[in-house]
Amino acid sequence: MFKIVDKKTLSPSTKLVVVRAPHVAKRARPGQFVMIQIDESGERIPLTIADFDRRAGTVTMIFQEVGKTTMHLGTLRPGDELFAVAGPLGHPSEIALYGKVLCIGGGVGIAPIFPIARALKEAGNTVLSIIGARTKDLLFWEDRMASVSDELIICTDDGSYGRKAVVTQPLQEILMKEASNIARIWAIGPAVMMKFVCKATEPYGIPTIVSLNTIMVDGTGMCGSCRVDLKGETKFVCVDGPEFDGHLVNWENLLMRLCIYREEEQLALNRWLE
Ligand code: FES
Repeated sequence: MFKIVDKKTLSPSTKLVVVRAPHVAKRARPGQFVMIQIDESGERIPLTIADFDRRAGTVTMIFQEVGKTTMHLGTLRPGDELFAVAGPLGHPSEIALYGKVLCIGGGVGIAPIFPIARALKEAGNTVLSIIGARTKDLLFWEDRMASVSDELIICTDDGSYGRKAVVTQPLQEILMKEASNIARIWAIGPAVMMKFVCKATEPYGIPTIVSLNTIMVDGTGMCGSCRVDLKGETKFVCVDGPEFDGHLVNWENLLMRLCIYREEEQLALNRWLE
Protein backbone atom coordinates (compact mmCIF):
# COMPACT_ATOMS: atom_id res chain seq x y z
CA MET A 1 0.00 0.00 0.00
CA PHE A 2 1.20 3.52 -0.77
CA LYS A 3 0.52 6.25 1.74
CA ILE A 4 -0.55 9.76 0.75
CA VAL A 5 1.73 12.03 2.77
CA ASP A 6 0.50 15.39 1.50
CA LYS A 7 -2.37 16.77 -0.49
CA LYS A 8 -3.08 20.26 -1.77
CA THR A 9 -5.90 21.89 -3.69
CA LEU A 10 -4.37 23.92 -6.51
CA SER A 11 -7.70 25.00 -8.00
CA PRO A 12 -11.31 23.91 -7.45
CA SER A 13 -10.72 20.94 -9.78
CA THR A 14 -6.93 20.49 -9.68
CA LYS A 15 -5.35 18.54 -6.84
CA LEU A 16 -1.80 17.62 -5.87
CA VAL A 17 -0.94 14.45 -3.97
CA VAL A 18 2.44 13.40 -2.64
CA VAL A 19 2.63 9.63 -2.27
CA ARG A 20 5.27 7.53 -0.54
CA ALA A 21 6.57 5.22 -3.25
CA PRO A 22 10.35 4.81 -2.78
CA HIS A 23 10.70 2.34 -5.67
CA VAL A 24 9.33 4.99 -8.07
CA ALA A 25 11.12 7.98 -6.52
CA LYS A 26 14.46 6.17 -6.75
CA ARG A 27 14.32 5.76 -10.54
CA ALA A 28 11.91 8.51 -11.69
CA ARG A 29 13.10 10.88 -14.40
CA PRO A 30 11.38 13.84 -16.07
CA GLY A 31 8.75 12.80 -18.62
CA GLN A 32 7.79 9.50 -17.01
CA PHE A 33 4.47 8.49 -15.50
CA VAL A 34 2.94 6.04 -13.05
CA MET A 35 -0.19 3.88 -13.19
CA ILE A 36 -2.16 4.17 -9.99
CA GLN A 37 -5.02 2.10 -8.61
CA ILE A 38 -6.96 3.44 -5.63
CA ASP A 39 -8.28 0.06 -4.45
CA GLU A 40 -8.15 -3.54 -5.53
CA SER A 41 -11.25 -3.36 -7.72
CA GLY A 42 -10.54 0.15 -9.01
CA GLU A 43 -9.64 1.36 -12.47
CA ARG A 44 -5.95 1.86 -13.28
CA ILE A 45 -5.16 5.37 -14.48
CA PRO A 46 -1.92 6.96 -15.74
CA LEU A 47 -0.66 10.08 -13.95
CA THR A 48 2.44 11.98 -15.01
CA ILE A 49 5.11 12.42 -12.37
CA ALA A 50 5.19 16.15 -11.58
CA ASP A 51 8.06 15.87 -9.11
CA PHE A 52 9.97 13.37 -7.01
CA ASP A 53 12.10 13.39 -3.90
CA ARG A 54 14.56 10.52 -3.83
CA ARG A 55 15.61 11.07 -0.23
CA ALA A 56 12.05 11.19 1.10
CA GLY A 57 11.00 8.39 -1.27
CA THR A 58 7.98 10.34 -2.51
CA VAL A 59 6.45 11.21 -5.86
CA THR A 60 4.16 14.14 -6.60
CA MET A 61 1.22 13.85 -8.97
CA ILE A 62 -1.13 16.59 -10.08
CA PHE A 63 -4.47 15.71 -11.62
CA GLN A 64 -7.70 17.27 -12.72
CA GLU A 65 -10.93 15.82 -11.42
CA VAL A 66 -12.65 14.89 -14.65
CA GLY A 67 -14.06 11.39 -14.08
CA LYS A 68 -14.92 8.80 -11.47
CA THR A 69 -11.39 7.76 -10.52
CA THR A 70 -9.85 11.23 -10.42
CA MET A 71 -12.82 12.52 -8.40
CA HIS A 72 -12.44 9.60 -5.98
CA LEU A 73 -8.69 10.31 -5.74
CA GLY A 74 -9.53 13.94 -4.98
CA THR A 75 -11.50 12.88 -1.87
CA LEU A 76 -8.51 11.06 -0.31
CA ARG A 77 -6.49 12.72 2.44
CA PRO A 78 -3.01 12.47 3.93
CA GLY A 79 -2.81 9.14 5.74
CA ASP A 80 -5.04 7.35 3.21
CA GLU A 81 -3.41 4.70 1.06
CA LEU A 82 -3.43 3.74 -2.62
CA PHE A 83 -3.56 0.07 -3.53
CA ALA A 84 -0.96 0.36 -6.31
CA VAL A 85 1.56 2.82 -7.74
CA ALA A 86 3.36 1.16 -10.66
CA GLY A 87 6.30 2.83 -12.31
CA PRO A 88 8.16 4.81 -13.33
CA LEU A 89 6.79 3.96 -16.79
CA GLY A 90 7.57 5.26 -20.25
CA HIS A 91 10.74 6.75 -21.66
CA PRO A 92 12.22 9.77 -19.89
CA SER A 93 12.55 13.07 -21.73
CA GLU A 94 15.74 13.41 -23.78
CA ILE A 95 17.55 15.99 -21.71
CA ALA A 96 20.70 17.42 -23.29
CA LEU A 97 22.37 20.75 -23.96
CA TYR A 98 20.43 22.04 -26.98
CA GLY A 99 20.95 25.79 -26.55
CA LYS A 100 17.72 27.78 -26.34
CA VAL A 101 14.60 25.70 -25.66
CA LEU A 102 10.95 26.53 -25.19
CA CYS A 103 8.70 24.76 -22.66
CA ILE A 104 4.94 25.19 -23.00
CA GLY A 105 2.50 23.96 -20.37
CA GLY A 106 -1.26 24.30 -20.65
CA GLY A 107 -3.66 23.70 -17.74
CA VAL A 108 -2.76 20.57 -15.82
CA GLY A 109 0.12 20.14 -18.32
CA ILE A 110 2.05 22.74 -16.28
CA ALA A 111 2.75 19.91 -13.79
CA PRO A 112 4.69 17.58 -16.12
CA ILE A 113 6.42 20.43 -17.98
CA PHE A 114 8.03 21.64 -14.72
CA PRO A 115 10.50 18.74 -14.12
CA ILE A 116 11.42 18.83 -17.83
CA ALA A 117 12.10 22.58 -17.74
CA ARG A 118 14.11 22.12 -14.53
CA ALA A 119 16.22 19.34 -16.03
CA LEU A 120 16.80 21.36 -19.22
CA LYS A 121 17.92 24.34 -17.14
CA GLU A 122 20.23 22.13 -15.07
CA ALA A 123 21.73 20.81 -18.33
CA GLY A 124 22.75 24.38 -19.21
CA ASN A 125 20.01 25.36 -21.67
CA THR A 126 18.42 28.78 -21.90
CA VAL A 127 14.82 28.02 -21.03
CA LEU A 128 11.92 30.14 -22.27
CA SER A 129 8.59 29.04 -20.85
CA ILE A 130 4.96 29.77 -21.58
CA ILE A 131 2.25 28.58 -19.21
CA GLY A 132 -1.44 29.12 -19.71
CA ALA A 133 -4.86 28.20 -18.41
CA ARG A 134 -8.45 29.15 -19.08
CA THR A 135 -8.57 31.39 -16.02
CA LYS A 136 -6.37 32.56 -13.11
CA ASP A 137 -7.86 29.98 -10.71
CA LEU A 138 -6.56 27.14 -12.89
CA LEU A 139 -2.95 28.37 -12.96
CA PHE A 140 -0.42 26.94 -10.54
CA TRP A 141 3.35 26.64 -10.01
CA GLU A 142 4.13 30.07 -11.48
CA ASP A 143 6.88 30.36 -8.83
CA ARG A 144 8.36 26.98 -9.69
CA MET A 145 8.31 27.65 -13.43
CA ALA A 146 9.86 31.10 -12.87
CA SER A 147 12.67 29.51 -10.84
CA VAL A 148 13.76 27.28 -13.75
CA SER A 149 13.06 29.66 -16.66
CA ASP A 150 15.14 32.50 -18.08
CA GLU A 151 11.88 34.03 -19.25
CA LEU A 152 8.34 33.07 -18.30
CA ILE A 153 5.22 34.20 -20.15
CA ILE A 154 1.89 33.63 -18.44
CA CYS A 155 -1.43 33.74 -20.25
CA THR A 156 -5.06 33.14 -19.44
CA ASP A 157 -7.85 32.72 -21.99
CA ASP A 158 -10.05 35.22 -20.16
CA GLY A 159 -7.31 37.73 -19.27
CA SER A 160 -7.86 37.28 -15.52
CA TYR A 161 -4.08 36.98 -15.02
CA GLY A 162 -1.04 37.58 -17.22
CA ARG A 163 -1.67 38.11 -20.90
CA LYS A 164 -5.14 37.58 -22.34
CA ALA A 165 -4.14 34.95 -24.88
CA VAL A 166 -3.89 31.26 -25.59
CA VAL A 167 -0.35 29.86 -25.47
CA THR A 168 0.00 29.76 -29.24
CA GLN A 169 -0.17 33.58 -29.49
CA PRO A 170 3.09 34.31 -27.61
CA LEU A 171 4.52 31.22 -29.31
CA GLN A 172 3.82 32.74 -32.76
CA GLU A 173 5.48 35.99 -31.71
CA ILE A 174 8.60 34.18 -30.46
CA LEU A 175 8.74 32.16 -33.69
CA MET A 176 8.46 35.28 -35.85
CA LYS A 177 11.19 37.00 -33.83
CA GLU A 178 13.72 34.23 -33.27
CA ALA A 179 12.64 30.85 -34.66
CA SER A 180 16.18 30.12 -35.83
CA ASN A 181 17.46 30.44 -32.24
CA ILE A 182 15.02 27.88 -30.78
CA ALA A 183 16.58 24.43 -30.82
CA ARG A 184 13.70 22.39 -29.42
CA ILE A 185 10.23 22.80 -28.01
CA TRP A 186 8.29 20.75 -25.45
CA ALA A 187 4.52 21.20 -25.26
CA ILE A 188 2.28 19.47 -22.73
CA GLY A 189 -1.40 20.19 -22.20
CA PRO A 190 -4.78 19.41 -23.71
CA ALA A 191 -4.49 17.52 -27.02
CA VAL A 192 -6.00 20.45 -28.94
CA MET A 193 -3.39 22.81 -27.52
CA MET A 194 -0.54 20.45 -28.46
CA LYS A 195 -2.00 20.05 -31.96
CA PHE A 196 -2.00 23.83 -32.55
CA VAL A 197 1.47 24.26 -31.06
CA CYS A 198 2.72 21.65 -33.55
CA LYS A 199 0.90 23.35 -36.43
CA ALA A 200 2.61 26.62 -35.49
CA THR A 201 6.11 25.16 -35.23
CA GLU A 202 6.00 22.79 -38.22
CA PRO A 203 6.69 25.45 -40.90
CA TYR A 204 9.85 26.42 -39.00
CA GLY A 205 11.03 22.81 -38.71
CA ILE A 206 11.70 23.11 -34.98
CA PRO A 207 11.59 19.68 -33.28
CA THR A 208 8.47 19.77 -31.10
CA ILE A 209 8.01 17.13 -28.43
CA VAL A 210 4.57 16.42 -27.01
CA SER A 211 3.60 14.16 -24.12
CA LEU A 212 0.44 12.21 -24.91
CA ASN A 213 -2.09 11.29 -22.25
CA THR A 214 -4.22 8.65 -23.95
CA ILE A 215 -6.64 6.09 -22.54
CA MET A 216 -4.58 3.35 -20.87
CA VAL A 217 -5.58 0.01 -19.37
CA ASP A 218 -2.52 -2.08 -18.54
CA GLY A 219 0.33 0.39 -19.14
CA THR A 220 2.59 -2.44 -20.32
CA GLY A 221 2.06 -2.56 -24.08
CA MET A 222 -0.34 -5.53 -24.00
CA CYS A 223 -3.86 -4.12 -24.46
CA GLY A 224 -3.41 -1.64 -27.30
CA SER A 225 -5.81 0.91 -25.81
CA CYS A 226 -3.19 3.67 -25.84
CA ARG A 227 -2.25 3.29 -29.49
CA VAL A 228 -1.45 6.36 -31.50
CA ASP A 229 -0.94 6.83 -35.22
CA LEU A 230 2.35 8.45 -36.20
CA LYS A 231 2.09 9.10 -39.94
CA GLY A 232 0.80 5.56 -40.57
CA GLU A 233 2.94 3.84 -37.96
CA THR A 234 1.19 2.57 -34.83
CA LYS A 235 2.90 3.19 -31.50
CA PHE A 236 1.84 2.53 -27.92
CA VAL A 237 2.03 5.58 -25.69
CA CYS A 238 2.72 3.52 -22.53
CA VAL A 239 5.85 1.76 -23.82
CA ASP A 240 6.96 3.81 -26.85
CA GLY A 241 6.10 7.22 -25.31
CA PRO A 242 4.69 9.15 -23.65
CA GLU A 243 6.75 11.71 -25.59
CA PHE A 244 6.62 11.81 -29.38
CA ASP A 245 7.58 14.06 -32.24
CA GLY A 246 4.43 16.19 -32.40
CA HIS A 247 4.83 16.73 -36.15
CA LEU A 248 4.23 13.01 -36.74
CA VAL A 249 1.10 12.64 -34.60
CA ASN A 250 -2.23 12.07 -36.36
CA TRP A 251 -4.11 14.55 -34.17
CA GLU A 252 -7.57 13.93 -35.66
CA ASN A 253 -7.28 10.21 -34.87
CA LEU A 254 -5.97 10.95 -31.36
CA LEU A 255 -8.77 13.41 -30.59
CA MET A 256 -11.35 10.92 -31.83
CA ARG A 257 -9.90 8.08 -29.73
CA LEU A 258 -9.89 10.22 -26.58
CA CYS A 259 -13.71 10.44 -26.82
CA ILE A 260 -14.34 6.73 -27.45
CA TYR A 261 -15.52 5.88 -23.91
CA ARG A 262 -17.18 9.18 -23.05
CA GLU A 263 -20.60 7.59 -22.54
CA GLU A 264 -19.24 4.81 -20.29
CA GLU A 265 -17.10 7.33 -18.37
CA GLN A 266 -20.18 9.46 -17.69
CA LEU A 267 -22.16 6.39 -16.56
CA ALA A 268 -19.39 5.33 -14.17
CA LEU A 269 -19.21 8.86 -12.78
CA ASN A 270 -22.98 9.08 -12.31
CA ARG A 271 -23.03 5.73 -10.49
CA TRP A 272 -20.18 6.81 -8.22
CA LEU A 273 -21.89 10.13 -7.44
CA GLU A 274 -25.20 8.42 -6.52
FE1 FES B 1 -2.23 -1.09 -22.88
FE2 FES B 1 -0.57 0.84 -23.59
S1 FES B 1 -2.04 0.87 -22.02
S2 FES B 1 -0.87 -1.08 -24.55
